[in-house]
Amino acid sequence: MTTPTRPDPRGSAVPPPDVRVLDGVPAGAAETVARLYWTAFAHKFRPGLGDAEHGVPALREALASDRLSCAVGPDGTVLGVLGHHLAARGAIDLRFQTLLRHFSPWSAPWRALLLMPLHREARPDELLLDGIAVDAAARGRGIGTRLLAHAAHLARRAGLRRVRLSVVDTNPRARALYERCGFVAGRTQDVSLLGTLYGFRSVTEMTLEVSEQGEGT
Ligand SMILES: CC(C)(COP(=O)(O)OP(=O)(O)OC[C@H]1O[C@@H](n2cnc3c(N)ncnc32)[C@H](O)[C@@H]1OP(=O)(O)O)[C@@H](O)C(=O)NCCC(=O)NCCS
Repeated sequence: MTTPTRPDPRGSAVPPPDVRVLDGVPAGAAETVARLYWTAFAHKFRPGLGDAEHGVPALREALASDRLSCAVGPDGTVLGVLGHHLAARGAIDLRFQTLLRHFSPWSAPWRALLLMPLHREARPDELLLDGIAVDAAARGRGIGTRLLAHAAHLARRAGLRRVRLSVVDTNPRARALYERCGFVAGRTQDVSLLGTLYGFRSVTEMTLEVSEQGEGT
């Protein structure tokens, strides 16, 4: 990345002004978005989708553009992605038919079973985050912070009261970022059996109340 990081008065990174957050997936960027998801969450997808060669095309087909926002650099490159879950539909809409198109009819059913624990439901008054990921080369510049502010904007726009997300125990840096952005930790759930499969032991819910805040983006 050529744009320098500019520290703000509180010591955290401020995104360069030429990074914009757009709703949807820009034309021609589906592959980049799918790869960002894969790179960030391969540990969760691998049990069901196998390696990147098979998993990325399946993810690409499953992207729900109306549940995704992208941070885009000055040259149009997608540098980060934010997915949300609303009205029973998430950012990665992996249906059985999609699995059948990418995998054999014998493996698709057990793949669907292995992906089931990743499914989450948004409550009626909240925007549930469905993945946030920034390109490894663009991290630490405030893009993640900008995407989280956009999540609050999306929640307000939809008339919702809060943004909720889940963070795993093996990701303390992401948790620190969420806390810095105003998210408050709630319930922690032990997932020891699933953890063996997905590589973490517990999941903590974090929420951000948005009703009384000003616009962040
Ligand atoms: C978490 C993530 C989205 C943050 O994006 P970002 O653009 O680097 O975030 P910002 O620049 O706004 O803030 C940086 C802060 O994020 C946190 N952070 C989490 N993981 C980080 C990483 N791999 N590199 C840099 N910062 C990271 C740190 O607290 C950091 O603050 P610090 O520089 O004071 O340590 C990004 O690191 C990422 O894509 N990680 C992999 C996917 C992931 O873990 N997603 C969250 C799942 S709950």
